[in-house]
Amino acid sequence: MKSDLVPPASVVLVSGGSRGLGLAIVTDLLTAGLKVAAFARTVTPELTALGEKYPDHLYYGAVDVNDAEAGQAFVRTVETTLGPIDGLVNNAAIGQDSLHVHTSPDQLARIIQTNLTSPLILTRFVIRRMLAKGLKGRIVNVTSICAQRGFPGLVAYSATKGGMDAATRSLARELGGRVLANAVAPGFFASEMSAVLGQTQLDQIVRRTPTGHLTEPDDVVPVVRMLLLENTNVNGQVLAVDGAASI
Ligand SMILES: NC(=O)c1ccc[n+]([C@@H]2O[C@H](COP(=O)([O-])OP(=O)(O)OC[C@H]3O[C@@H](n4cnc5c(N)ncnc54)[C@H](OP(=O)(O)O)[C@@H]3O)[C@@H](O)[C@H]2O)c1
Repeated sequence: MKSDLVPPASVVLVSGGSRGLGLAIVTDLLTAGLKVAAFARTVTPELTALGEKYPDHLYYGAVDVNDAEAGQAFVRTVETTLGPIDGLVNNAAIGQDSLHVHTSPDQLARIIQTNLTSPLILTRFVIRRMLAKGLKGRIVNVTSICAQRGFPGLVAYSATKGGMDAATRSLARELGGRVLANAVAPGFFASEMSAVLGQTQLDQIVRRTPTGHLTEPDDVVPVVRMLLLENTNVNGQVLAVDGAASI
């Protein structure tokens, strides 16, 4: 391996790893033999079951990403339990299902805090510790095709995902190749977050998708794994995984 390459991540922190895409990412990375730390506000039975299956490889806990102190304490405990973190997947986010004119300022602030400000604060903390330890690392931000195409009812949500896409590009430049930063932008997939979509909307998305099927977490997981583990020189990119629905 060339000495300037960023090695594959070995200890990965996944925010929002309790269900949906985050849980699928956690499961996949554990299967690949990595050490994984996951948090969400609520620990689910699925995450607990994974902890029983991989007691030496998975560390998890209940943390609100908006509680920076709790997040930082979690990071420190992960480091003593699993080892220094060299991979971060910013996956935790909340959705939106309200027209902009009907979204209260408090709700706007909550979406921006959860999906943009808090992930940037967590990223800052993790990167500082990576660099202080002389480590190289990888960051994958889970964003959305909503950042690239317009969708009614998702104004603030789309703004946060566009913000994370932009931050990804600038992080990649700022980190000078020591930490690779990329984003994965999935199309709509079935989860608690997208449960607000009715069958008519889902059918419409499928009709607009050249590959003829809705995105699934299993379509996204290999892309996240590639960005964390493979030597591809992909850096500062936003990779859409939506079957070309947004093209
Ligand atoms: N579903 C879609 O159609 C779709 C499409 C494109 C992109 N995405 C993106 O994909 C990612 C995963 O979405 P998903 O559909 O899998 O959503 P989901 O099923 O609602 O899962 C979201 C995860 O984030 C956690 N979370 C939410 N707020 C949190 C907070 N304040 N602190 C800590 N954890 C928090 C949730 O756990 P708790 O609620 O217990 O905290 C859960 O583990 C998100 O970034 C989302 O924006 C989703």
